[in-house]
Amino acid sequence: MNMSRRDSSEYSSKILEIIRERRSIREFRDEEIPVEDLKLLIEAARWAPSGSNLQPWKFVIVTDKRLVKAIKLISPGMFGEPPALIIICHDLSRAELSRELQLIDIGASMQNILLYAHALGLGTCPIASFNSEGIAELLELPDHLKPTIIISVGKPERKPSPPERIPLDKLIVKIY
Ligand SMILES: Cc1cc2nc3c(=O)[nH]c(=O)nc-3n(C[C@H](O)[C@H](O)[C@H](O)COP(=O)(O)O)c2cc1C
Repeated sequence: MNMSRRDSSEYSSKILEIIRERRSIREFRDEEIPVEDLKLLIEAARWAPSGSNLQPWKFVIVTDKRLVKAIKLISPGMFGEPPALIIICHDLSRAELSRELQLIDIGASMQNILLYAHALGLGTCPIASFNSEGIAELLELPDHLKPTIIISVGKPERKPSPPERIPLDKLIVKIY
């Protein structure tokens, strides 16, 4: 019998391993990340699901050191010296659904980036603590693009130990 890749347990356990082993990285090696690699992360992001397939996201890649520093100055949640940033912007020109619902879409695209980066050996950290208006100004964004989450990207300096997770049996409220 011809087993498709999707059916193989090797494939599914690899995905679970990538999900489990990904960590938020806050210390980076002083190594540049090629823009082509960052574009690969956005390739993963654009295949995320979105309500009505509206894809309400746009991405900004920043590798310019001075700009990274300027962004860090107004991003209290940013740690370490990341060599690259991806800023996911909510594209309000595609906001046909409720804006709140579309944050789920943004989160899905973010998670694709985090997981694919980990699979490529890159470390990432999502950052929500930043001055969105200040970032929009620094990046000279049009009004309809609202910076929603920043992802720092770089080669991890070390592998952090996993923060505790709520056990499975405490998460499932009911099984009918
Ligand atoms: C929406 C969101 C916002 C976050 N904002 C920050 C942040 O501003 N600064 C930071 O250092 N980590 C931030 N994190 C990372 C979390 O602290 C981290 O995911 C959590 O502690 C679990 O650790 P892990 O990612 O290594 O599993 C954020 C994560 C998410 C999903």
